[in-house]
Amino acid sequence: MTSKFKQFVRLASELIPTIDRNQKIPKELNENIIKRLKEQLNGIDSSDLYINQFSNELLSDSELKNNKSVYYFPIIEMKAFTLAVFAFPPNSTIPLHDHPDMTVLSKVLYGHVYCKNYHLLDKKSQEVKFTGEVKLDETSGTKITYPQENNLHCFYTESKSTAVLDLLYPPYDNIYRSCNYYKLLKMENSHNRDDENFKLLKFDPDFSCITSINSQRFFTNLVK
Ligand SMILES: [Fe+2]
Repeated sequence: MTSKFKQFVRLASELIPTIDRNQKIPKELNENIIKRLKEQLNGIDSSDLYINQFSNELLSDSELKNNKSVYYFPIIEMKAFTLAVFAFPPNSTIPLHDHPDMTVLSKVLYGHVYCKNYHLLDKKSQEVKFTGEVKLDETSGTKITYPQENNLHCFYTESKSTAVLDLLYPPYDNIYRSCNYYKLLKMENSHNRDDENFKLLKFDPDFSCITSINSQRFFTNLVK
């Protein structure tokens, strides 16, 4: 029988357009494609990937104690999209970052994570607006990050380890779509209110996203 996860991979491969390596700005996914992928992804949980909160295959105890890192487990890395699990140790953070010209679908597999969202108001001045914080868990459904709307976010976990399945279209690369991290600066004439706009400042955070070299072997049977 075909698993839900395999069905999702097939649907993504069928619906997501191929992209040219030299294509600077990829075609945006239309709402119908996003809706179909989202519906399918909503039904996937950790049991479909044979992982759980205590899965030794994914994280060792020493790794779980390091809150300066999250762990990246690639499942499929293609030119058109990447499908991967991000595993967060307890009390860990992914600093504020962007997804240039990308669409990202994120589904929590276990645990919960808080996500603060920001919308870029002006590319030249790098002014952003805070658009809200959401708590995501396995019942929350799929979160969508759009290329032109609420394209920046940061994540943090509390006392539970958490795993999130992400589909990134197209994937990050080092030419047109590198991942940038930012600090938020208060605007001139700021009144120190939380709902005011901020200015982005690129920085190099004390944070790493560590890639698991074993995960493709671990996940191979899921996508065959
Ligand atoms: Fe992100």
